[in-house]
Amino acid sequence: MPVKKEKKTRSFQLVKGMKDILPDDQKYWQYISQLAETLAVKYGFSRIDIPLVEDTQLFTRSVGQATDIVEKEMYSFIDKGGENISLRPEFTAGIARAYIEHGMINLPQPVKLYSIGPCFRYDKPQSGRYRQFHQLNFETIGDADPVTDAQIILIAYKINEMLNLPVIMQVNSVGCPQCRPDYELVLKDYFKKYRNKLSEVSQKRLLKNPLRILDSKEDLDQTIIEGAPQQVDHLCEECKNHFIKVLEYLDELEVPYALNPTIVRGLDYYTRTTFEVTTVEDAENGDKSRQIALGGGGRYDKLYESLGGRETPVVGFAAGIERLIGQIKEKDLKVPALPQAEIFLAQLGTEARRKALVLFEELYRAGFKVTEAFSKSGIKPQLEMADRLGAKLCLIVGQKEIIDGTVMIRDMDGGIQEVVDYKKIVPELRKRLEKMAVVRVAIEDKTV
Ligand code: HAM
Repeated sequence: MPVKKEKKTRSFQLVKGMKDILPDDQKYWQYISQLAETLAVKYGFSRIDIPLVEDTQLFTRSVGQATDIVEKEMYSFIDKGGENISLRPEFTAGIARAYIEHGMINLPQPVKLYSIGPCFRYDKPQSGRYRQFHQLNFETIGDADPVTDAQIILIAYKINEMLNLPVIMQVNSVGCPQCRPDYELVLKDYFKKYRNKLSEVSQKRLLKNPLRILDSKEDLDQTIIEGAPQQVDHLCEECKNHFIKVLEYLDELEVPYALNPTIVRGLDYYTRTTFEVTTVEDAENGDKSRQIALGGGGRYDKLYESLGGRETPVVGFAAGIERLIGQIKEKDLKVPALPQAEIFLAQLGTEARRKALVLFEELYRAGFKVTEAFSKSGIKPQLEMADRLGAKLCLIVGQKEIIDGTVMIRDMDGGIQEVVDYKKIVPELRKRLEKMAVVRVAIEDKTV
């Protein structure tokens, strides 16, 4: 085969399914992260950061062998030392590993942990679905009480409420190892009757993981799923009581929810409560092929034991940051702009540039947000830049100002210019900025 000559200067593109977060979008990221952090602190969660990579088996044993994530979507590879490792497809398993490894069972329970960061799934890229995406993840570890499930659902709801995104929590119970096997048999018998009418994916799931058919987005499956027996009618007494309590607490908290027997989740570790967050439009529209969850989670009381820890009841959820941002943009909701430079420092000529360099440091030390374009020389391009960057004031240092020991201050809104003594520049700037009531957007001021 002829060897294709590689061009000497090839250009590069994003790897499929990846996304740059450009400066213009940073305000959304900062807003959402700060909002999640504020919520986390108020509800008593501590931050945990875990590695991007873990032992592959941690995920196969927790997320489940017969799940899309493990079967098709893991970024797994053998490292140079021969270890089989994977990029994390989610946080839950890694947090379980960290809790067990660091003996957090010895801390007062529950241990409440939150994380923010990237996850990786080799998914089919499409709108709202990326191969690198970011989650806000909350876990309450070591508490079996249904009140914890309700509080986790409340926090998942609040993130959306604070962003002004109208959502409904889709809630279900998937039972426990006592009652689920019986339900799975009933479900399998039901789906077997429709085997030939089910979509190809669901036919495969019928053999490996019939519960997941309920999660199908295929049109072909929908009417069959509607008639399927429901787990809630096959719960054991304990699971039923647990579920009723969760719903009572949600009523008490006035969290909008809908009972949805198809919320079985794409991960195997759940027991009892499961939930997903959908927009009100998606919930009303009913077309499952179009629906994308903004978040999801539930209780999983058996995972820690299966990973070598002690029996530890846990409930948690994760929200997808890209999907939240997608909704904010689609609905044209406002988020605060990032703090901008208040002052632009312009200079005219070599001498002035030297002086401006020193003045910049003085202003920086005095705590001002200053920006500059020292490589530019004309006043016009510098003023244009000051305008584009949203500076409130522009300081101009030229030959004349150097001789006089002054600095010119230009009000960027009105264009009025005034000469000020160089030595008085710091108090003068403070006075002016205070007077202009520059709004430094403080997320803490937002009502949480
Ligand atoms: P999950 O439903 O797989 O749950 O993911 C949670 C959220 O992450 C989804 O609702 C979605 O917003 C976002 N997400 C998932 N995959 C993608 C993707 N390919 N592109 C963009 N966003 C995506 C979990 O990961 C569980 N660990 C949640 C949990 C925590 N359960 C208990 N604790």
